[in-house]
Amino acid sequence: MTAYINTMKTLSINDLAMMKQAQEKICCLTTYDASFSTLLDAAGIDVMLVGDSLGMVIQGCSSTLPVTVDDMVYHSRIVAAARKRAFIVTDLPFGSYATPEQALQNSVNLMQKGGAQMVKLEGAKTEIIEFLVKQGVAVCGHLGLQPQSVNCLGGYKAQGKDLHQAQRILEDALKIEQAGAGLLVLECVTAKLAAEVTRQLTIPVIGIGAGVACDGQVLVLYDMLNIVTGDRPRFVKNFMDGAKSIEDAVKSYIRAVKSSQFPGPEHSY
Ligand code: KIV
Repeated sequence: MTAYINTMKTLSINDLAMMKQAQEKICCLTTYDASFSTLLDAAGIDVMLVGDSLGMVIQGCSSTLPVTVDDMVYHSRIVAAARKRAFIVTDLPFGSYATPEQALQNSVNLMQKGGAQMVKLEGAKTEIIEFLVKQGVAVCGHLGLQPQSVNCLGGYKAQGKDLHQAQRILEDALKIEQAGAGLLVLECVTAKLAAEVTRQLTIPVIGIGAGVACDGQVLVLYDMLNIVTGDRPRFVKNFMDGAKSIEDAVKSYIRAVKSSQFPGPEHSY
């Protein structure tokens, strides 16, 4: 499969929107440092998400909650410095977007010091999204399982399984698009719900544990490289299995996403 995009140019949100229109799948992986940024970028990844999952896979915490804005700025800066082509989305961490003003101040930091092209925030915070977009901040929403709310959810569980919950997620997704978000991450929801959200939204929908119908896929890099030990969530595939190198595994992930071979039903809810 040929990539739609000229590989030498840094991708923009418009390129991602055109990929949705052209039905070219968007490949995304979390990235936290310069070495992986160089490797993933050269392999042809479309989006690098500097995720607050770094709290778990880099810092060894049991959740994303201890991650600070300074941590995110540091990791985003070193990822951005090594990047040539991929679009960079950086997470606003827990507690950093309680008010529109606080969200703006922290987004400005992530963009000016961290080189982020877009910031991601969890939940249907439409007032905050609208305010950020008006100030020129590109926003990615995040629905379904919201790891920053793990203490309210009581654990990391698939979301949207009953009709009422599914309807709520669909409505929230539409509101997030209406508020001006340019991208949406859907985490751990049924493949059926994710397909419906993807169909109804005009902005690209990136899934993680959300089935193959999404406009693109994201995984935590350390999960797909099998670096993290212990229980792997159902939606993770070990791409090091049968790969000759890390580069080989990343290229195989990109091929599998672009050709809709990943995720399979065994990785979906
Ligand atoms: O922080 C992260 O890695 C994320 C992904 C799970 C989407 O938000």
